[in-house]
Amino acid sequence: MLLEAKNVSKTFRSGRGTETVHAVRDATLRARPGDFVAIVGESGSGKSTLARILLDLIPPSSGGVELDGVPISAMTKKERVQYRRHVQAVLQDPAGSLNPRKRVEQTVGEVIRLHRIATTRVQVREKVREALHLVGLNPAEEFLDRFPHELSGGQRQRVLIARAVALNPQIIVADEAVSALDASVKAGVLRVMADLKDRLGVGYVFITHDLPVVRKVADYVYVMRSGEIVEEGAKEAIFADPSHPYTQTLLAAAPVLHRARSDRSLDSTAREV
Ligand SMILES: Nc1ncnc2c1ncn2[C@@H]1O[C@H](COP(=O)(O)OP(=O)(O)OP(=O)(O)O)[C@@H](O)[C@H]1O
Ligand SMILES: [Mg+2]
Repeated sequence: MLLEAKNVSKTFRSGRGTETVHAVRDATLRARPGDFVAIVGESGSGKSTLARILLDLIPPSSGGVELDGVPISAMTKKERVQYRRHVQAVLQDPAGSLNPRKRVEQTVGEVIRLHRIATTRVQVREKVREALHLVGLNPAEEFLDRFPHELSGGQRQRVLIARAVALNPQIIVADEAVSALDASVKAGVLRVMADLKDRLGVGYVFITHDLPVVRKVADYVYVMRSGEIVEEGAKEAIFADPSHPYTQTLLAAAPVLHRARSDRSLDSTAREV
């Protein structure tokens, strides 16, 4: 399976429609199941806009997104529903991705019902349990009846991942999904994501400004600036030898972490929930 953004541009009119913002310009990107693709770039560079286009939440102004060569715009209603199942979102929690009035079982269960993964109450509950187990919320019984405010930040993020993974997606688009979390909690959530990649073959389009995280988990990196993808390449190549001046500046500006230390801090604390 191949997810492609082809020459995608997005223009917004802001203010009273007098100003034009070129949020994304001619961006081309590819992602496959099992790939950890990262998009990095400064604030306002168009990362979230590109993510929303990939998620079929907003249409591009020009260009398009294709799944296995089929443009979203040419999909039948049924194909589009399938698309939205295959390409799932995990967004940042503080933005309120979880409904505060819904318990974990309801939050995860309703998407399972919506996509008819299971229908009876017993089957749905079983699927919810499986999903919670996959993201390390064990025992599931302990979490099913909780409201978001009864969970830690890391646990809430895991519920969001469980909700996505319950649909058996091919690719998860994660927009700053771990950025708000403490280092140790972040490491645990990243471990869960890497584990889903290994066990289920899930691919990621992982958006972040956190370069140590990219260094740890990404396979391939796209660098955005002012709406454009200015550089792309295998992670090793990008970190070892950034070719675009902007990427050089970005890497130079990142907090310098001793390599061994940052790796250890991600690994040793990964058991935290
Ligand atoms: N709905 C909108 N209407 C008008 N302008 C918008 C809209 N959404 C985004 N923009 C503008 O498009 C540009 C790109 O925004 P976007 O949110 O994609 O950036 P980002 O890279 O995700 O930034 P951050 O790292 O801060 O999340 C910004 O200039 C933003 O103000
Ligand atoms: Mg953003």
